[in-house]
Formats: sequence, structure tokens, C-alpha cells
Amino acid sequence: MKNISLDISKAASFLNEGAVKAYEAQVKTAQTSLESGTCPGNDFLGWLHLPSSITAQFLDEVQTVANTLRAKCDVVVVAGIGGSYLGARAIIEALGNSFAWLVADKKNPTIVFAGNNIGEDYLSELSEYLKGKRFGVINISKSGTTTETALAFRLLKKQCEAQRGKEEAREVIVAITDANRGAARAAADKEGYQTFVIPDNVGGRFSVLTPVGLLPIACAGFDIRSLVQGAVDMEKATAPDVPFEQNIAAQYAAVRNALYTQAGKKIEIMVNYQPKLHFIAEWWKQLYGESEGKEHKGIFPASCDFTTDLHSMGQWIQEGERSIFETVISVEKPNRELLFPNDEENLDGLNFLAGKRVDEVNKMAELGTLLAHVDGGVPNIRISLPELNAYYLGQLIYFFEIGCGISGNLLGVNPFNQPGVEAYKKNMFALLDKPGYEAESRAIKERLG
Ligand code: PA5
Repeated sequence: MKNISLDISKAASFLNEGAVKAYEAQVKTAQTSLESGTCPGNDFLGWLHLPSSITAQFLDEVQTVANTLRAKCDVVVVAGIGGSYLGARAIIEALGNSFAWLVADKKNPTIVFAGNNIGEDYLSELSEYLKGKRFGVINISKSGTTTETALAFRLLKKQCEAQRGKEEAREVIVAITDANRGAARAAADKEGYQTFVIPDNVGGRFSVLTPVGLLPIACAGFDIRSLVQGAVDMEKATAPDVPFEQNIAAQYAAVRNALYTQAGKKIEIMVNYQPKLHFIAEWWKQLYGESEGKEHKGIFPASCDFTTDLHSMGQWIQEGERSIFETVISVEKPNRELLFPNDEENLDGLNFLAGKRVDEVNKMAELGTLLAHVDGGVPNIRISLPELNAYYLGQLIYFFEIGCGISGNLLGVNPFNQPGVEAYKKNMFALLDKPGYEAESRAIKERLG
């Protein structure tokens, strides 16, 4: 089996010669500190050897619960936010049919997501959609107290119980949460739901290879064994003893830090040429944004879907402020084949494409864009996936995780905490008069007049 590959040549050319190689010693130190658990945030390193520690028996357990949900539900609602949401959605959308919503696919339940926003219309429309449907819920929250998720779960639980009865609802509600703490744990224990534990030492954004991601992905009908195998193989391919030149995660971490500190490239745009990869970029944005954006430092992670966004953001990328670099996820071989037809009248003038695969046009768009953007002063990193399948996505997940661990260390921050996300919560709770926030409530109301 091949591995995903990385080409940094069109990014390194924007740096002084040897600038990437100069990171070799720092990368080694960073990886050693991850391995030895001496790095900042060392109580959150459970993801580091997670792939290789997952047993076949554990995957069977996850698959068994998924099979129950698959048998008993036409729709499975996955409630979660941030790291308790994005990984599952990223993989399900990358592997799924682009029109899953519209295809009456009786083989697999429809997976929908909730608990990732507080949109009243969204939740109301979801409730309307679920009316009369055989639906189940996977409630995912490590803390078990996240407002967005808890709010959606209360609504979903009530509707599920109303539609299926309390007994049957119990069989189709699964909680993935902390072993002991939090409201989600308390509710699951009281109601007797099936549960999975999110390990203490795995942070939300690094948790896609725990049941947080694995259960929804298995429910959707995708191969979690291949996904994990891909991650296991990437864990080996990026191990600390792999030479710097061959370690693609080390190279990625080094080149993006060099671009940031030496070439003023403050924004990394994750680009795809397959709309199915949109949520991979969303997952990646959280992974890198929440890990690195600290102490007034960090590359801003952005994303674009090409060629779609070439018709909106393309102008900015080509000629706007030169503070960006691009990382392209390229899929070598599409899963389907579609040949462009000949047309006798040729009214659209496209007969020069007749007989070609649509992907050939896409690839030329990709190459043409690469050349144009590099000419325009945008360094380009390219990650290549031989195919879009569970195995290579498993590789990609681990590649980005270990790349993030190394990169955050190079930047000099603790990549495994997220103190900044508490600020809005404190204000929201104060504004909503949550018990326990009385002092904050008075202060914020005074401030607002
Ligand atoms: O990466 C993180 O830790 C966060 O994004 C969390 O996943 C997110 O805030 C959801 O938290 P919880 O799983 O506790 O509901």
C-alpha cells in the first residue's frame, strides 16, 4: 500500500536555501519531547500512539454498537461541537455520496449533525425533519457540559422518547463522554444508555480516532478498520527515528514554521479540488487554529474549495497581500469515471475536451492554479492522496495530528490547551444569568449600561 506524500519544493523556493533543513534539530527536540512526555501540555498526549493502541476487539465493540443503531434507525443525529463533531463529519462527507441527502439509500442511515450551533431555525427544522422518523442520537461531549450540545441533546432526547417511547429510546441513544464527570455522563448512567469513554489524555480536536469519530463513521457505513490502519501506518511513517527528509510530518511542520517566521506568511489556506473534502479543511482549521493560536502567535488557518472559490477568493489569492501560503490536498485518482462527451454541434466549443475524463480537466485546473499562484508569490505545499478512501484518510488524520504536535512545539506554545475559548462562554453565561455567574452578570450588565 502506498502512503500519502508531501511536496514542499514550491514552498521551500520562497525561503533561503537550507531554511527547512535548518529545522531538523528543533523538530527532533520537539518529537523527543512529545515522545518522552516532557513537552507543554503533556497530560494530553494520548493521541500520540492512539492508532497503534487500538485493538481489533475495541473496533468490534464500536462496530457492534454502530450495527445496532444502523438496524434500528433511519436517521442518526450526531450531537457535538468542535473536536466532538468535526472529525466525524469530515470523514463521513469525504467518503459519502455528495447527494447523500437526496439519494434514498436504504443501506445506510442518514447521518445529520446537531449541537454544533444554537440556531433556533436549525434546531426547529431538524425537529420537523425528524418527525415520524426512526431516529437515534449519539451524544458526544468530553466535558459533558457544553451548552450547544447539551441544549440540542435535551431537545433530541425528548423527541426521541416521545416518538419511540422511553424504553426503545434507551436502545438508540449512545453517549460518548468522560468516564465519570459531567452532565452527559450523569444522564447516561441514570438512563442506562450505551456509553463510550473519551480518554482523559485525548483532547477534543485530537479525538477523531476514539469513539468520538469512529462510532458515527461506522454508523454511516464506512470502514473504521481501514481508517485506523491508515493512521497506524502513518504513525510508523512519521516516528521520531524516521530521517527528517523522509518524515513528511516533520517536513510539513518545518516548512510552515519557516514560512511564518522567515517569510511573513501569516495565513495558511488549505485547498482542495474535491468538494467532499470541505469538512476535512474545517477539521484541520480547528486542529491547527485551536492548537497554535496562542500568546498572540500562530498561523491563521483558512480554507478554500477549488475550483469553486477561484471564482470568489482567487483574485485575493493571486494579487492580494502577500501574507499567505497554500496547502493543497490533491487526490490522484477519483473513485468514479466520467468521460466528457462529444457533441456534433459543439455549440459550447468544448469538443476539445471530448473523450477526456472530467478529472483531467480538474487536474489541469490544479496545475494551472499552482503555477499561477506560485508566480503570484504564494508558496505552495502539496499533499497527495493516491485515492479518497478510509485508509488514506486515516493516514491524513495522523499526519495532520503529529504535524500539529511538532509545529506547535516549534512555535513555542502549548498545542494541547485552549484557554481562549472560555472568554465567550463566561460572558454568555453571565448574560443568561446562569447560576454561579452572579458577579460576572452584574459586571457585564454594568458594562453594557
Ligand atoms: O478541541 C477541543 O477541546 C474543543 O473543540 C472541544 O472539542 C469542544 O469545545 C467540545 O467540547 P466537549 O467535547 O467537552 O463538549
